[in-house]
Amino acid sequence: MNFKSHALALSEFISKYSPIWIEEIMNEYPETINDYPNEWITLLDSLNEQELFDVDCKRPVEKLKDSSFEAFMQAIKDLTDIPNIPFSPELPLEDWAFQGVKKKKRHEIQKIVPVLKRVRDELKFDRVVDIGGGVGHLSRVLSHYHQIPSVSIDQNVEFQEIGKMRLQKFRKLDGAENVVFMNLTFGKDEDSADLKKVFHENSLGLGLHTCGPLANTLIEATIDYQTKGLLSFGCCYHKMKSEKDFPLSNFYKENKFPVLNLFGLTLATRSHAEMTFDTYQTKERVKNYRYALHLFLMRHFNNKTYTDVGECHLSMYWKPFHFYISDKLKHLNLEHNFSDEYFDNFYDDPALQRELRVMFLCNIIRWQLGRALEVYLQVDRCLYLEEHGYEVSLHQYFDEALSPRNLGILALHK
Ligand SMILES: C[S@@+](CC[C@H](N)C(=O)[O-])C[C@H]1O[C@@H](n2cnc3c(N)ncnc32)[C@H](O)[C@@H]1O
Repeated sequence: MNFKSHALALSEFISKYSPIWIEEIMNEYPETINDYPNEWITLLDSLNEQELFDVDCKRPVEKLKDSSFEAFMQAIKDLTDIPNIPFSPELPLEDWAFQGVKKKKRHEIQKIVPVLKRVRDELKFDRVVDIGGGVGHLSRVLSHYHQIPSVSIDQNVEFQEIGKMRLQKFRKLDGAENVVFMNLTFGKDEDSADLKKVFHENSLGLGLHTCGPLANTLIEATIDYQTKGLLSFGCCYHKMKSEKDFPLSNFYKENKFPVLNLFGLTLATRSHAEMTFDTYQTKERVKNYRYALHLFLMRHFNNKTYTDVGECHLSMYWKPFHFYISDKLKHLNLEHNFSDEYFDNFYDDPALQRELRVMFLCNIIRWQLGRALEVYLQVDRCLYLEEHGYEVSLHQYFDEALSPRNLGILALHK
């Protein structure tokens, strides 16, 4: 992939739609609605639930044919069409090797291992250093069953204790290598002397879902310690600080490409997750209650900006509205004399329902942009590694339905 030309195309597209991704719909509502083309809202409003669900899943819908909304969706598809890893035979490993490992993790490990084996054949690295390795499933499979020495680094001692106990339980194959657990905080200066013992020019770094800025720390350390390279999967981009953690590359900085703010990073984090119709309906319900609460706070408490209202159990959203809003007002320490009936009438009011419908349709439009933002963010990381002399490739490693944060950056010092 030519990262520069891809970045230019992504940047142009993202700039065009920045009013949409830069703001949550609740922020500055109702003005935010003006950023969404009226024609698209009307078109989406004419769809039934199944068709809207299809749009949300990025599937073609007959009624959208030849519309400017269809062109928008197609542009996103083209910009986010990252190739799958070119070869990934699922290596046969008996079930016992994956006892107690969730389906998602098993799938990820089975996709990653063949790539690491191929890289090892080529670059002859000494060991894989798994940053944020958690309980160390990946390291265990690499070392015990594929003879690749590995070090699992994590700052969480409990995870590592569980991992060490598990090592005793699993049978090793002939020629098995050891798994080393190191308890340290990657990126903390005090821990760098220990880190240097394992993370050096003969190691390959790995970050399987290194949250937010941890992926950047891995990238920076790869360059500083001049390791053989890295395989990195990001997640939780909203934990990054825009400007400080993004962008990294000179190419993005010199071209003054748009900087992703917290709302853009959050949208990128949640993008591209396949779902069932049930999940979609729950999502709609959650949004409707959350937005109705926001509109209530606006109208009765003069609160116009986004407020953190905490989490609640999904079952709450299928009870009458007054249960949900009473719980939230209590959480926010807001005293009131509203009755349950008043709350439910507020929610059932057709004018409010219409507002909620439009807000939801706008969200459907906004969600489409998430994957484009994620690719835009990952391409910046790729360019930064290229600028530091690495040969870089970006692929989709995992099935979206099992593991939606599936973009892997492979950067190698050849
Ligand atoms: C999302 S989990 C991923 C765990 C594992 N790689 C996996 O795929 O199952 C992120 C892990 O990174 C660890 N972590 C976060 N920041 C860290 C740091 N600076 N140094 C070491 N570990 C860190 C956390 O404790 C957590 O186990």
